[in-house]
Amino acid sequence: MLDGYHILTLTHRDAPLETLAHAIAPSEGAAHVLQNLKEQMGWSELLYLATCNRVTYVFYTQGLVNQNIAEQMLSVLQPELPEILVQKTATKMRLINGSEAVMHLLEVASSMDSLVVGEREIIRQLRQAYEQSRDWDLTGDHLRLLLGFTIETAKEIYTHTGIGRRALSVVALAFGEMLKTGLRPESRILMIGAGETNALFAKFLAKAKFTNVTVFNRTFEKAQLLAQANGWRAFPLDELAYFSEGFDVLVVCTGATQAIITPALYRDLLADENGKKVVVDLSIPHNVARETVDAFPMQYIEIESLKETANENLAYREQERDRAAGLIQDRILKFRDRWHERQVERSLAHIPEEVKAVKERAINEVFGKEFGLLDPAAQDLVQRMLGYMEKKCVAIPIKAAKAIALHGQKRQAKTVPQ
Ligand SMILES: NC(=O)c1ccc[n+]([C@@H]2O[C@H](COP(=O)([O-])OP(=O)(O)OC[C@H]3O[C@@H](n4cnc5c(N)ncnc54)[C@H](OP(=O)(O)O)[C@@H]3O)[C@@H](O)[C@H]2O)c1
Repeated sequence: MLDGYHILTLTHRDAPLETLAHAIAPSEGAAHVLQNLKEQMGWSELLYLATCNRVTYVFYTQGLVNQNIAEQMLSVLQPELPEILVQKTATKMRLINGSEAVMHLLEVASSMDSLVVGEREIIRQLRQAYEQSRDWDLTGDHLRLLLGFTIETAKEIYTHTGIGRRALSVVALAFGEMLKTGLRPESRILMIGAGETNALFAKFLAKAKFTNVTVFNRTFEKAQLLAQANGWRAFPLDELAYFSEGFDVLVVCTGATQAIITPALYRDLLADENGKKVVVDLSIPHNVARETVDAFPMQYIEIESLKETANENLAYREQERDRAAGLIQDRILKFRDRWHERQVERSLAHIPEEVKAVKERAINEVFGKEFGLLDPAAQDLVQRMLGYMEKKCVAIPIKAAKAIALHGQKRQAKTVPQ
């Protein structure tokens, strides 16, 4: 049954980040520390996952798991940690057992339990954590089966629900709004600032294949770096006032605390064009002066105006989380069947070898003399016939045992709530 699966976890929901740090395996010599942990705790398999807001130990054991396990685990993991901190951290950790543990992992992978619902990054982190744990010799067949199933489930949830759809990040939303204005790939885009936010915006521009982008930044080298990576042009911010080629979109985002785009500068940048422009200003405080916005025809996209859409999108994702929860219930039943099938396979793993040995004995011992008298063509035919029989004979008991196990499972599911 699934009762060998357990999870000990501590997340951003349970405790502040400094408490979380006490439950993390030291990065130096982590493989050895975790191998020791697995051995001392008597776990047969272990998967270790640590992200910026979650630390999770998924383990498999047929032994008893008592309520003090978090304390025991922390004492082995961090022998230097003062007793008071061990206790404080342990009380915050959640222990989840059996099918609930499986369900929890499916929810985590489907980002239903994430800080930002629908954030797909977790699926990559989980896969990486599994590969790392496997390479450290911590995992075995039970966790291999669970992880494969978990990744498959997460993909299904992302495909069949909208949990990961509809952007939440300010940059993605601003870019979406900008696209709605009907730009062409050759539209002229002026980008002011080359910090993190604009670098992210630049990724969207590059992905959408905008070719005519000019980047201005106080530190010229940073503008150059951003522009060169995408085949765009770069200038120092000091030269912005002399730019006379006009623009279709102005993307401004810097850490300046005074408005950079004053009405006078904006008028110069217009280069005698008087059509309506698109201005994206993601800075806080705004980099485009209020007077500029009021004085010129423009579609002004700024953080406040995006918040409403972000909230609507978040509400949509939350609603999709409920749909995802329904799918997970179905998936748990499927995992039970798969787990049972796998146990049958494992318990019958010796059959192919045994059947093969019977075949070899028949040819070499029991019918050895008669076989030796046959001509090569007849010997070949007998070999092929026995090979065919061998294959079929191996499949029969495995198929039958799986059917019996599945039938037993279904009967049990009908009578006993699991
Ligand atoms: N990061 C976010 O998630 C996020 C989201 C929404 C809004 N914002 C806002 O976006 C703005 C920039 O954030 P960021 O994360 O991109 O910051 P960042 O990575 O620190 O970059 C800051 C950028 O602003 C430039 N800059 C700073 N002070 C300046 C000044 N006085 N005059 C001209 N340029 C100046 C810097 O130029 P140098 O290269 O010369 O230093 C750099 O290009 C901030 O107002 C922030 O509140 C950030």
